[in-house]
Amino acid sequence: MCGIIGAVSQRDIAKILLEGLRYLEYRGYDSAGLMVVNSTGKANRLRCVGKVNNLVCAAEHAVLLGETGIAHTRWATHGKPEESNAHPHISTNIAVVHNGIIENYELLRDQLRNRGYTFFSETDTEVVAHLVHWEQQRGGSLLTVVQRIIPDLCGTYGMVILDTYSPDRLIAVRSGSPLVIGCGIDENFIVSDPMALLSVTRRFIYLEEGDIAQISSYGIEIMDRCNNIVQRCEIELDTHYDAGNKGLYSHYMQKEIYEQPLVLINTLSGRYNNSLVELSEFNDQTYSLLKQVEHIQIVACGTSYHAGMVARYWFESLANMPCDVEIASEFRYRRSVVRKNSLFITLSQSGETADTLAALRLSKNLGYLGSLSICNVSSSSLIRESDFSLMTKAGIEVGVASTKSFTTQLAVLLILVAKISSLKGTTSKVEKEIVNALQILPGCIEEVLLQDKLISKLAQNFSNKNHALFLGRGEQYPIAMEGALKLKEISYIHAEAYAAGELKHGPLALIDSEMPVIVVAPQNSLLDKLKSNIEEVRARGGLLYIFTNSISSFSGSHNIHIIPLPHIPVVLEPIVYIVPLQLLSYYIALMRGTDLDKPRNLAKSVTVE
Ligand code: F6R
Repeated sequence: MCGIIGAVSQRDIAKILLEGLRYLEYRGYDSAGLMVVNSTGKANRLRCVGKVNNLVCAAEHAVLLGETGIAHTRWATHGKPEESNAHPHISTNIAVVHNGIIENYELLRDQLRNRGYTFFSETDTEVVAHLVHWEQQRGGSLLTVVQRIIPDLCGTYGMVILDTYSPDRLIAVRSGSPLVIGCGIDENFIVSDPMALLSVTRRFIYLEEGDIAQISSYGIEIMDRCNNIVQRCEIELDTHYDAGNKGLYSHYMQKEIYEQPLVLINTLSGRYNNSLVELSEFNDQTYSLLKQVEHIQIVACGTSYHAGMVARYWFESLANMPCDVEIASEFRYRRSVVRKNSLFITLSQSGETADTLAALRLSKNLGYLGSLSICNVSSSSLIRESDFSLMTKAGIEVGVASTKSFTTQLAVLLILVAKISSLKGTTSKVEKEIVNALQILPGCIEEVLLQDKLISKLAQNFSNKNHALFLGRGEQYPIAMEGALKLKEISYIHAEAYAAGELKHGPLALIDSEMPVIVVAPQNSLLDKLKSNIEEVRARGGLLYIFTNSISSFSGSHNIHIIPLPHIPVVLEPIVYIVPLQLLSYYIALMRGTDLDKPRNLAKSVTVE
């Protein structure tokens, strides 16, 4: 993961780099560092363990003068989150910041040790600094030196290289990790995400795979992977970044859970009319492609993968459309059979998830009809590289645990199911049912949020638990998985989800009076089956927490807690039932005192595989 930023200017640049790092922190927050150099080649490096704020505080007491600089916020891959592993890494006059993984670093490190280099970190990145330094002895400009070492590197990288002997330029290299040039007046920048530079420029050039760029305050030169000089188009971003503040809420995650009715209204607005779906993003060509679709392949990671799992139930049961869903990191490394007329759908909040992007790139050579991305960030690589896309309009999601991006993904998927069902079917009955249901969705979620107090009280029972089990059937099975993911990532309680029918095939052995079992049990055709599974748990003394709108189905007893939920159309159940599970995880994490907007070891955007 990691966020990188570099600048070549005619003014002191440290403040801008630090401000940029604050935005980039969603890409990792194990350590942060920067290095600035002035026109005489005098350089200063500062690195700190932990969040960017630690670096900002340390910078207040440091002398950081220089018009050229590079900075980095790290999500540790190779080497612990310690200062010695924080970027920039240096080799005499060369400094490097890197996002990605140099896979052959061990071999390179051994070679460089044999040449007399000493390594001060456990990272894969440090080899690049030494390699550039070694290669520089053979002569040539920094640009040509970097071009010569690129063939030696295996893996993925977005890198920025600074040479204190040539402080008027930076070299940026993109291979597998995004990099964007920010074009200023008498200054230029390079960054992992353009949003981090909005305070200084709105003009950006996206580097393409294999590009190398030489950036100075007076010019930008870009070469492709064959070292040909190329022109990449400059675009002007009219987006603005406003994560807002937390307002009355204690955490972004809590705010984002509560924002769900509103962002669902935003996501759905303009997408239907008179009970029929209208998608202004799609043109005649898109519709004729959709008419040919006979199979859907969904690929995503984490929470987005869970949304895909729900959609599989919907596509098959409501639109009679065969659908498969796969985790991107699995899909990209196996030989899969592409079904006839298959549409490739990627789901992602950030649009920068490395595995999802790699799967999309792979799909292009496999014979899919086309690629559709459902994504929350309009400037993301996923949107730019997909044939067509549907935006979720969740707004900026700051909390590392996805909440509103999940429910808006589900809403967009349901819209797509409705459209595909009417394009492929003979009537628009399903489309109308879905659209009518979606119109009351925001209100249903408002109602669920009213259970906040009850859920916060229940959370107290979990504060000393080490494990939890989540159960669901049908479309609620992925919701149980998503509930378990939320709990483990922010409260660090080990949680597992099972399709309730699987219990007796092993997990039932885990049940005792210490094991909380959370059941997602809406009133639908599977409720009777689920009740039998609940009885199996109850008979073994399990501690049950049942989220249901069928209260009369469950007789109370000391080891059963019922969380009553409103009556809603069956098709909305997955979208509505995740909300109380988000709240439950939130309150449990709050009680356990974790850093719940930035849980340990994680990052908001997973840009390494
Ligand atoms: C969990 C979570 C992650 C992401 C996953 C994919 O709360 O946020 O599991 O869902 O890293 O990220 P995107 O959706 O940005 O591709």
